Amino acid sequence: MFQKQYCLVNNNTIASDALAAYFYAFSSEEQLHQALAVRPSGVGCFVLGSGSNVVFASDVNALVLHNVIQGIDVVDRAEGVVWIQVAGGVLWHSLVLWSIERGYSGLENLSLIPGTVGAAPIQNIGAYGVELCDLFESLEAIEIETGQRISLNKQQCDFAYRHSIFKTPAYAGRWVVVSVTLRLRSSRDGNRFEFKTEYGEIEAELSRRSITRLTPELMSDVIICIRQRKLPDPNVLPNAGSFFKNPIVSVDECDRIKNKFPSLVYYPLEGGKCKLAAGWLIDQLNWKGKEVGGAKVHDQQALVLTNVGGGGKAVVDLSKRIQGDVMDAYGVFLEPEPLIFA
Ligand code: EPU
Repeated sequence: MFQKQYCLVNNNTIASDALAAYFYAFSSEEQLHQALAVRPSGVGCFVLGSGSNVVFASDVNALVLHNVIQGIDVVDRAEGVVWIQVAGGVLWHSLVLWSIERGYSGLENLSLIPGTVGAAPIQNIGAYGVELCDLFESLEAIEIETGQRISLNKQQCDFAYRHSIFKTPAYAGRWVVVSVTLRLRSSRDGNRFEFKTEYGEIEAELSRRSITRLTPELMSDVIICIRQRKLPDPNVLPNAGSFFKNPIVSVDECDRIKNKFPSLVYYPLEGGKCKLAAGWLIDQLNWKGKEVGGAKVHDQQALVLTNVGGGGKAVVDLSKRIQGDVMDAYGVFLEPEPLIFA
């Protein structure tokens, strides 16, 4: 049933050629239950979607369970609203395209994010002012240890910036998200959509195209254009998107850094906190475009590290050097965004 010593090179966007001791792709909940029932004893499990937010820096001595369950269903409707249930193995961007084709709104700012729907709640994916939690209704997950199925609502998932309950020690690595239910807006009954356009890059692109009346499709197209300009296509340059989270610090800490670096890019948050632009912090230290041992900081975006031949280990080694420099220069710890398998 399981493939042994399986090379993961085509199953992660950083193109690490790590080996999985065992590998199994499941396309239904039944198949997942069967796999869990007969898994080799004493071997842990590692759940993998499309591998866009994981870095394999060593071989994986575990059973890698690859979620490819498919299906998107409209499960409820109300005036101007539609609820859709999406299987965990669906590719995120294909869901975005599906929703736009049907005239639903809500996902357009999240266009072109790599990864699967099942992985989206784990780190509460987000871009251009929208996060998964803004559209999230509930999810269904199966516990690896017991096979038990649970349903969690938005509050129970405890979402925050690139965070959910699935990142906490009690939950991390223990559950397989088999489906996610989202609440989208539908244009039936003539309601008008609202769009989040306040990011400078979006405003610039809208005025460049002289767009005055937006649709979900146009908005998605604008986002795709912006992302393609600065984020490398993993099929061309293997990468895992933003390699670090934007660090959240106190206002006092932010002021301290700003005094030394007046052009610091930051976003004030509620509760006396500020989010610093990690890309800016790294860029200022002249890391953009630098290559060390087969890993390279992307030319257009300092937050993205690419594998240029050294594999996952080289990318992690480079990330540690950047972390050290950022700590020395600003006294700020950069937390990696992808899951690192060292
Ligand atoms: N900046 C630089 N130099 C750089 C990169 C960025 O000076 O090399 C500055 C930019 O000029 C800008 C600021 O830093 O003023 C923020 O940069 P950007 O708008 O590119 O966004 P980001 O903070 O780098 C975040 C997400 C992205 C998401 C974008 C758009 C994180 C860790 N990353 O990036 O998400 O697409 O905002 O909303 O929150 C991902 O998670 O993989 C990802 C790509």
